Amino acid sequence: MSDQVLVIDDEESVRITLRRALAEEGFSVETAESGRAGLRTVKQAAPDVAVVDLKLGDASGLDVLRDLKSRCPETVTIMISAYGDVQDVVQAMKLGADDYVQKPYDLDEMVRCVTQTLHASRMREALQPVGDGTGGGIGLARILGEADVMEDVRETILKIVPSGARTVLVHGETGTGKELVARALHYESDRAPQPFVKLNCSAIPESLFESELFGHERGTFTDAQESRPGLAEIADKGTLFLDEIGDAGAVAQAKLLTFIEERRFRRLGGREDLEVDVRIVAATNKDLDLESDSGNFRNDLLHRLKVIGISLPSLREREGDVTFLAQRFVEEFRTQAGKPDMKLSDEALECLESYGWPGNVRELRNAMERVVLLEDCDVIRPQHLSQKIRGSSGLSRARGLMDKSGLPLAAVEREHIQRILEQTEGNRTRAAEILGITRQTLINKLKMYEHLSGASSDKEDDSSDEP
Ligand SMILES: Nc1ncnc2c1ncn2[C@@H]1O[C@H](COP(=O)(O)OP(=O)(O)OP(=O)(O)O)[C@@H](O)[C@H]1O
Ligand SMILES: [Mg+2]
Repeated sequence: MSDQVLVIDDEESVRITLRRALAEEGFSVETAESGRAGLRTVKQAAPDVAVVDLKLGDASGLDVLRDLKSRCPETVTIMISAYGDVQDVVQAMKLGADDYVQKPYDLDEMVRCVTQTLHASRMREALQPVGDGTGGGIGLARILGEADVMEDVRETILKIVPSGARTVLVHGETGTGKELVARALHYESDRAPQPFVKLNCSAIPESLFESELFGHERGTFTDAQESRPGLAEIADKGTLFLDEIGDAGAVAQAKLLTFIEERRFRRLGGREDLEVDVRIVAATNKDLDLESDSGNFRNDLLHRLKVIGISLPSLREREGDVTFLAQRFVEEFRTQAGKPDMKLSDEALECLESYGWPGNVRELRNAMERVVLLEDCDVIRPQHLSQKIRGSSGLSRARGLMDKSGLPLAAVEREHIQRILEQTEGNRTRAAEILGITRQTLINKLKMYEHLSGASSDKEDDSSDEP
């Protein structure tokens, strides 16, 4: 039976073209014009792949993705994003989207993305039983990196561990390793044999926050047929990890403040105060000072939290670590997949180094996993990397050129365009996409260059006529 793809997009032209292109590749394709219609289809049968536009008429693609992931977690999801949707894309990846394709895309690219992502996901499934995915070690040893800034991070962790500090705030962009740090703080300390308990403040509705954290007594509300301890109680003598604390609502913030100050609480419907000994590690990718200035985050809570802080640098700020980590990840996944030999070429490393990595270490790790699973080669070259990653290297090289030689801008532009065209093997649609211009603008520019080089050769002819 052929693999099922569901395309959810409110633009009819997208539905028609994708249906045709995917069907030609042997997929069986369903389309839906709205989030609601898409979810109805999903209820009948879970598709193997869903392609979802981030901007739908009746709903946000993110909401659709969330529903989809909860109904059929096995479905591979690919988001269609528009230029400038970075925040939403990051959010989508966190919600479990497998990949995204940026508009304007060409159909070949989309078909390739569907095929490869599906294949990668099946390979991953097949390999699942091997190891526990932690890559060995649970404490500091998992925080890899040779950059000086990462050495500083590890030193700070080692200072905090024995300090008896009761609250620690970890700040960093998405995918920089905040949870790894929280776990290292726990597993390197003498709290290690006790529980490490995680509460994701953004995932839990505010109305349930209190009972989740503090527990409840029997009969407190309709569903409460049994008494239940909260996470704070479960974490006693261990570590309570409050993830995404920047997303906690006003009520949750107030409860947390009292709890942090007093380390005492009551179960919902309870009569007695309970006391626990927990180290609280809170993490966020938000700038809490800014959030506090704009009134979204309580100032008093912020001051309690930030007495001891760890700030994780973005991957861009870790000199040499892209190469170091990429090689480590390739080696890890290569071994896991049982492939005999696989190395990154210098050119591929150059591409990786010049890409911006908005998703930081997580994105790099996923990209290396993908390449190892999908490619059958000994040497990983730029063409094996996704177009997103490849696309950035020409640009930075052109920038280097401009800085060094002081070439006129037009010459740099022309050279850059030619290089991208080589990369796309002459495919103008893809080249225009990488360059961030329309295909027509690209064609106009190429015509202009042709015209200019025609004019200059005329000139040479002229001069050769001179005595
Ligand atoms: N320094 C590192 N060495 C090795 N792996 C790392 C490192 N930093 C992050 N990772 C890996 O990257 C992924 C994301 O890490 P983690 O979940 O800790 O990030 P995060 O900062 O909590 O992200 P988010 O804000 O999105 O929740 C994990 O697979 C983790 O193992
Ligand atoms: Mg996290």
